[in-house]
Amino acid sequence: MASSTPKARLENKVAIVTGGARGIGECIVRLFAKHGAKVVIADVNDDLGKLLCQDLGSKFACFVHCDVTIESDIENLINTTIAKHGQLDIMVNNAGTVDEPKLSILDNEKSDFDRVVSINLAGVFLGTKHAARVMIPKCSGSIITTASICSVTGGVASHAYTSSKHGVVGLAKNAAAELGKYNIRVNCVSPYFVPTKLAFKFLNMDETSSFYSNLQGKTLGPQDIANATLFLASDESGYVSGHNLVVDGGYSVLNPAFGLFSWKP
Ligand SMILES: NC(=O)c1ccc[n+]([C@@H]2O[C@H](COP(=O)([O-])OP(=O)(O)OC[C@H]3O[C@@H](n4cnc5c(N)ncnc54)[C@H](O)[C@@H]3O)[C@@H](O)[C@H]2O)c1
Repeated sequence: MASSTPKARLENKVAIVTGGARGIGECIVRLFAKHGAKVVIADVNDDLGKLLCQDLGSKFACFVHCDVTIESDIENLINTTIAKHGQLDIMVNNAGTVDEPKLSILDNEKSDFDRVVSINLAGVFLGTKHAARVMIPKCSGSIITTASICSVTGGVASHAYTSSKHGVVGLAKNAAAELGKYNIRVNCVSPYFVPTKLAFKFLNMDETSSFYSNLQGKTLGPQDIANATLFLASDESGYVSGHNLVVDGGYSVLNPAFGLFSWKP
């Protein structure tokens, strides 16, 4: 007979979540801890990161200050995790940022482009590289990057953001091709709009704003992204690698302005 107690899906696993102090990352941290993982929260926001650790308890979570654009910070993050737990099973490259939306490419500054790509793409490269460094000798691991709906469509966000999110999917495919021989899986999760500080800032909206959804009466929440990430982190996705799991309620497969099945929400 099936047990009514949900199974802990990350028992005996150690995970790192970058950008884990708030938003989608915080939700991933909480869900991973609930499923038995020991989670290392890596973020530049020390106050929020430490507060989250206190809330979860030192048995489940600890905080390491880490700016994902600085290679020595990432090295320290991975080395501290190994020193504390002796293993790294799951690396979630989730830290991300946006730039100001500008309607003309002529108004885009290279410095803004560099800043976004440095966090969203180079930061993911560093996280993937140093996670692989300790996963290769164990011949096991799951590396997951929070990409975006902007990894599969154009015209939703800035040039820098869209470029960076297409980039991380390419990186995940390449890393999946290389690291498969070590039984290391590399995947992405691509959220549609999730109401977080990052999204509100970018879209100049707030909690009261409504947003298009292809699924009637449903809005995407950070929990949905955490659930998708949990699947890719757990052994249930043991043969899934090089995949971009789009979590958008079907948004990216349709054009809401034109189509046989168009309906007004
Ligand atoms: N919210 C959305 O609608 C949405 C949609 C698609 C993809 N995403 C992606 O999801 C991820 C999380 O975004 P969110 O919405 O939770 O945003 P958020 O701003 O709430 O959280 C981002 C976290 O990343 C941290 N961070 C930023 N720069 C960092 C750096 N250099 N080093 C380490 N940590 C850093 C921040 O301190 C913060 O804790 C991002 O990669 C974002 O691009 C978000």
